Amino acid sequence: MALLELARISKTFGRLVVLSDLSIDIEEGSIAGVIGPNGAGKSTLFNVVTGVYAPDSGAVRFDGRRIDGRRTYAIARRGIARTFQNLRLFGFLDAVDNVLIGEHARLRSPMIASLLHLPGERHEERAARARAHELLDFVGLGERRQFVRNLSYGDQRRLEIARALASSPRLLLLDEPAAGMNPTEKERLSELVRAIRDRGITVMLIEHDMGLVMRLCERITVLDYGEKIAEGAPAAVRADPRVIEAYLGPNDEAVAG
Ligand SMILES: Nc1ncnc2c1ncn2[C@@H]1O[C@H](COP(=O)(O)OP(=O)(O)OP(=O)(O)O)[C@@H](O)[C@H]1O
Ligand SMILES: [Mg+2]
Repeated sequence: MALLELARISKTFGRLVVLSDLSIDIEEGSIAGVIGPNGAGKSTLFNVVTGVYAPDSGAVRFDGRRIDGRRTYAIARRGIARTFQNLRLFGFLDAVDNVLIGEHARLRSPMIASLLHLPGERHEERAARARAHELLDFVGLGERRQFVRNLSYGDQRRLEIARALASSPRLLLLDEPAAGMNPTEKERLSELVRAIRDRGITVMLIEHDMGLVMRLCERITVLDYGEKIAEGAPAAVRADPRVIEAYLGPNDEAVAG
């Protein structure tokens, strides 16, 4: 049984069909890629999986149970975490507190007490703080605990991953994690994604850098105008004529360009 199963999902915004009869299975323990031209529906797919949108039709199953139509926090609690294409970090907080916000999904005590370091911090909060430090070390930000607005873009992207990991997910969705990174940062990101998978977390990622996707993902799904046009191992997807056409346009255009 797949860890995540999308079965014939459709989603429209008004008259715009953004996801069309889309079925995808993600195996537990895998690194899966989602690619496709701008506007293909990739981020919308993540929004449907995480409960930002309910699909118009079709089913989303996580670990065998229906999650479509559930609230975002309920889905997060079941074990799905994500990062956003446009970073959503709190620039006025430091890295540790940003991770704590992710962890708070699991904590019972009020977030504000933790952020203000109020006296009588409970055992639970001390444990959360220790775990936040551990996660920052894990993503390679152990030495960079200052205010987020002073971090480089690449570091902020890794901090977002640490925050997502703080809720102890089984499935991590990364929306363009390498955007804005230089080649060295991209290489470190690939190593991090593999290390995350080695912790037993399944990873699904959207990425425009084809080289990175091909090296990192075991299986790739290609979307175009909300439809799945190809799926499979990197080499097969790269050679698929429909994929080439989606990226380059019809043959004559590609030659002309
Ligand atoms: N809330 C919304 N309301 C109306 N249209 C939307 C909404 N969200 C997305 N869309 C439209 O749906 C289409 C798919 O958007 P989506 O963000 O999923 O694409 P994407 O594949 O992630 O693209 P990119 O690679 O540029 O990030 C686009 O045409 C977009 O304008
Ligand atoms: Mg997107």
